Amino acid sequence: MPKAAVTLDRDNVIGATDRRLFGAFIEHLGRCIYGGIFEPGHPEADARGFRKDVLAMVRELAPTIMRYPGGNFVSGYNWEDGVGPVEQRPRRLDLAWMSTEPNTFGTNEFVDWCRAAGIEPMLAVNLGTRGGDAARNLVEYCNHPGGTALSDLRRKHGFEQPHDIRFWCLGNEMDGWWQMETKTAAEYGRIAAEAAKMMKWIDPSIELAACGSSGRTMPTFGTWEDVVLDHTFDHVEYISLHTYLNNYADDAAAFLASPDLMDDFIEEVVAIADAVAARRRSDKRIMLSFDEWNVWYRTRRSREGRVKPGWPVAPEILEEPYTMLDALTFGGACISLLNHADRIKAACLAQLVNAIAPIMTATGGPAWRQTIFHPFADFSRLGRGQVLRAVVDCPTYAASYFDPRGTVDAHYPLPAVPYLKLSAVHDDKAAILTLFLLNRHLTEPMTVGLTARGFAGFRLVQAHQLCDADLDAINSREKPDRIQPRSLGGVAVRDTGLDATLAPASWNVIRLQGS
Ligand code: AHR
Repeated sequence: MPKAAVTLDRDNVIGATDRRLFGAFIEHLGRCIYGGIFEPGHPEADARGFRKDVLAMVRELAPTIMRYPGGNFVSGYNWEDGVGPVEQRPRRLDLAWMSTEPNTFGTNEFVDWCRAAGIEPMLAVNLGTRGGDAARNLVEYCNHPGGTALSDLRRKHGFEQPHDIRFWCLGNEMDGWWQMETKTAAEYGRIAAEAAKMMKWIDPSIELAACGSSGRTMPTFGTWEDVVLDHTFDHVEYISLHTYLNNYADDAAAFLASPDLMDDFIEEVVAIADAVAARRRSDKRIMLSFDEWNVWYRTRRSREGRVKPGWPVAPEILEEPYTMLDALTFGGACISLLNHADRIKAACLAQLVNAIAPIMTATGGPAWRQTIFHPFADFSRLGRGQVLRAVVDCPTYAASYFDPRGTVDAHYPLPAVPYLKLSAVHDDKAAILTLFLLNRHLTEPMTVGLTARGFAGFRLVQAHQLCDADLDAINSREKPDRIQPRSLGGVAVRDTGLDATLAPASWNVIRLQGS
């Protein structure tokens, strides 16, 4: 049985988790919005068409900030189409997902929905087919109090008070060939800087994220961040990162190791951002917005998974069924985000409902939680506080991870993957230390011994696990709770530590109270 020794020190802190680390994303994509959060006529819909059953599950999942309206969709979006009287809004072809966009849900409905869910709205502007002019107009429409054509238009549309949107994304994945009006780094950098300048002239209090490359495997990765930040450094607070982990190779061990590549990716982007700062002799630190992350592969590269013929409204696309194994890799990604709390100040699970999502709905029918719902709810609800720098001493294994977006060598060697992936978060006020533990050993349980320096008088508050003998098990409409957290027994708590045994291939959360 592998043994892990974990040592941490109350004063050895990586950083405090920002509230925005626990965000998610809703895009005009498939049934994410239409038939997901918004389904007028559904028995659970309120007067605005918001599904109350979905809202209740969203509150349970507890995302803190919500990115909207895309994603690929935003690169062809005219925000003006989605405001004003619904019956006058145009239907348009959406070239991102080859569907018809009815525009019955737009910016104001989004803000209303966020307020109902208790979530901060995050808006992305179209820097594909549009540019700085449309972006600054949207800031004026949303955030200017009144007395101008656009702010008064918002008031005429029923929103007397400004929406006060604080966090804005300058486009989406602008290096991707699949994007409408994709750009070179220099083209995008200039447009983003000019848009940012005007947006902040209208509202200097907003915060802006420039697009990083759409993935670490993009041929332009690295150079893209460098050039884009050279242009935008003085105008933005964040650079974005996107990652979708996959199991195309059907190699569970490599899949479980893949969140470690997120760690490398994050550290590389930090290094590039800081190199740009160094060249400018600047002490400004660009923070990271990991504004798309998830597990996604079954519906990613198949045409049937991504597109339905005939320009349908809200087609069933990207409806990825998540397995027990997916939930474990997903939990590993949560740990990677927590362990970089010093530089990742916003992150968005992509996405929220139906399209690569923790929540599924049947049109006209019920909603249920996918397997990945549970690690995200743990991460968001229990991951607030100071992340401590833990030293993990445990056996390792070798893996090779395949990522098909790569152009040169799509196989990433991972020579020494620790079987235990862990994050420790200390909530000083509540005096609670929360441990998130992923046992990546597929067949053997693991004993974990913790020594926590600077703590005393520990008592167990909560311990639960997510695991199943069948790593292919999923939750479905018929069996919505096939995979759900269960209590974790046998945790022996000492004054300043604990001993526990983790099941093979398991996600575990242990909470200790102590002074
Ligand atoms: O989240 C699905 C899509 O993945 C987004 O629209 C895009 O930004 C990314 O490629």
